[in-house]
Amino acid sequence: MTFLNVEKLLTEYVNSECLWGLEPNKYVVRIPELIKSGKILDIGAGEGRNSLYLAQKGFDVTGVDISKEAIDKLLNFSKKNKLNINGIVKSITDFEFNEQYDAIISVATLHLINKDDLFELINKMKKKTKKNGLNLLTVFTDKDAGREQFPDLYFFNENEIRDIYNDWEIIEHTTYNKEESHGKPHIHNICVLIARK
Ligand SMILES: C[S@@+](CC[C@H](N)C(=O)[O-])C[C@H]1O[C@@H](n2cnc3c(N)ncnc32)[C@H](O)[C@@H]1O
Repeated sequence: MTFLNVEKLLTEYVNSECLWGLEPNKYVVRIPELIKSGKILDIGAGEGRNSLYLAQKGFDVTGVDISKEAIDKLLNFSKKNKLNINGIVKSITDFEFNEQYDAIISVATLHLINKDDLFELINKMKKKTKKNGLNLLTVFTDKDAGREQFPDLYFFNENEIRDIYNDWEIIEHTTYNKEESHGKPHIHNICVLIARK
């Protein structure tokens, strides 16, 4: 199994105090409007900005990330804020989905997963979500400027994710440009999907 550009990302975690900041993703803040309580799995949780936000809103959150540095930071932030987040260092492709979740989120991570594992993983996310539960995904699209620079990443067609969720209620499906300041400033074209089972 290969993890595309993830090694570079892992070094960035070592060299930065908080790579992605603590502000939650602008779509993740919609989750508490859509479900009131329950268990949430955050795939590729990073330093935990989204997990922390959801735990503050009273959800029982598990964050999984392949980076030990990222999960260590997540657990430190969690402790500092007197929250109780379950942080797991593991590749999501090896994670055992032993329970059903009220929501599964994955922000800016799925395009990093090897294509051979990616669609199986998304299907597992769907399967391991409770009835009326939510999935929230944000991924790079094939209009992303980094497409040539990172040929190993998986760049989604903007309708691809929506089509995978065609048996769920689509709550949000849109694309937007996001400016990034880590490394050289650059812009990503992101597709976001929020769907209810
Ligand atoms: C761009 S960061 C996003 C972090 C976080 N979701 C956020 O929004 O701040 C992508 C994350 O995916 C993690 N990641 C990449 N491949 C992974 C895998 N196979 N299993 C678990 N995490 C992975 C990286 O370590 C990194 O923390």
